[in-house]
Amino acid sequence: MTETTTGTPRPAGEVREIRIFDTTLRDGEQSPGCSMNLMEKLEVAQALADLKVDIIEAGFPIASPGDFEAVREIARVVRGPVICGLARCRPEDIDRAWEAVRYAERPRIHVFLATSPIHREHKLKMTKEQIVERAVEGVRRALGYCPNVEFSPEDATRTEIDFLCQVVEAVIDAGATTVNIPDTVGYATPRQMFELISNLRNRVPNIDKAVISVHCHNDLGLAVANSLASIEAGAGQVECTINGLGERAGNCALEEVVMALRTRHDYYRAYTNIHTQRLVPTSRLVSGITGMVVQRNKAIVGQNAFAHEAGIHQDGILKERTTYEIMRPEDVGFTTTQLVLGKHSGRAALADRARALGYRLTGDQLNAIFEEFKILADKKKEIYDADIAALIEQEIAQVPDRWTFEAYRVSTGSGQTPQVWLRLRRGDQLQETELHGGDGPIDAVFLAIEKLTRLSVVCKDFRVHSVTLGKDAQAEVTVEVEYQDQIYRGRGLSTDSVEASARAFLNAINRILALANGSKTKRTPSPAAEQKQPPSDNVSSSGPSKSS
Ligand code: KIV
Ligand code: ZN
Repeated sequence: MTETTTGTPRPAGEVREIRIFDTTLRDGEQSPGCSMNLMEKLEVAQALADLKVDIIEAGFPIASPGDFEAVREIARVVRGPVICGLARCRPEDIDRAWEAVRYAERPRIHVFLATSPIHREHKLKMTKEQIVERAVEGVRRALGYCPNVEFSPEDATRTEIDFLCQVVEAVIDAGATTVNIPDTVGYATPRQMFELISNLRNRVPNIDKAVISVHCHNDLGLAVANSLASIEAGAGQVECTINGLGERAGNCALEEVVMALRTRHDYYRAYTNIHTQRLVPTSRLVSGITGMVVQRNKAIVGQNAFAHEAGIHQDGILKERTTYEIMRPEDVGFTTTQLVLGKHSGRAALADRARALGYRLTGDQLNAIFEEFKILADKKKEIYDADIAALIEQEIAQVPDRWTFEAYRVSTGSGQTPQVWLRLRRGDQLQETELHGGDGPIDAVFLAIEKLTRLSVVCKDFRVHSVTLGKDAQAEVTVEVEYQDQIYRGRGLSTDSVEASARAFLNAINRILALANGSKTKRTPSPAAEQKQPPSDNVSSSGPSKSS
């Protein structure tokens, strides 16, 4: 084994490089409830650059002003990876995509057009000849702006193979440097993907002039398996997302495909440039920002991914780790120390632990987290890495607070209407209210918050999960509320689940207020919220839309 510059072991002998194309900010952001604002997208893009992905698909610039602005900022600021913008095969899309990515160190335009009979007949109403012509025109127009152009025949896996070969040959002839084969609806099986990529390699005469990429959706839970099968058949780029986010059941999970290649390099003989120790921190960051909780038993980054419960396994691990572990937790970014800090730990110890967990904090962020840490240490004897990560993510996702939580009291019981008292702070003023109502203590506190802040919202989603195990574990609450047709998310953390709920609700309210007051410091409307349109990518329709 030799080391790459990022420390990823590279198997000796003949190996292929697999490019990692991350589409968390485009396809991932299209997951219901996952939209991010500008600052959040910049933060994720920087984390992806630190992770050493090769290409970041930063968005779909024509989809909304918010998408455009985010792609342009990422292109301006983030250095390292190629920055890519998505466009339909329409001149205005391609021009807009170029406007957004033009200041990137290495820009890429990704044009797509559906090729399957279902899409041709029902959505596009175009003949095969028209499709080829439009695809070639799109690639040529993009090439007029930059030499790095990717083409995707959308719904490729349900396209007749002869026609797919014809389209692929035509776009490579026109100059496409990457040809991406999407399994748009997650319909393919691993063997089919293997055969499809093999067929393209055998039948398209100019195939060696472009990199073959795959983009697999997870509707049947096969996205990672299909991507790996495609790599075996010769694909050189994989499109994927952090935590497998994406339309419907999501996309191929980046962390899984990367670790499969790394762990089974004996079999795949392929490597990526991914700095695998950043996988867990990046997963946590994306989960914190999007509110999409990572299931405990999720491969690679789930909290239980390296936990050994059965006695027989623990015994084996103690004797020889490889009896039951095929990867080392530290290689994906889990720290091996579990019990870290307590009441008497100082700021330096906290800063040290935050660094070990993979976070880079500013002095102000560290101060704010240290305050929260001290409060937590008073309530909870043992503070674990997951507690610290949750505190950090809460701070990172913070908006400028107009209202802060101070205290509450609720009295209620079975069949009783709750009586709540609530105190919030606004600037240097404390404000209190009392209320008799609500459907349980949490609803009562939400009503009291609405009363004090004079803002009425509709709660669309409410989730609680415990950060660690044990009776004194912190509760992490995420809420989604609707206000004037837009969705806002909030997160709250506390050892008391009612207080965590109140903090989450208030966090969402603060986001609404930050926006209403035109705060430039952090929040801008999320693109998905700005422009809600029925999904359609008909090239002859006028409205842009998101594409899976
Ligand atoms: O799933 C899909 O087909 C897509 C394309 C735009 C690549 O996301
Ligand atoms: Zn997709």
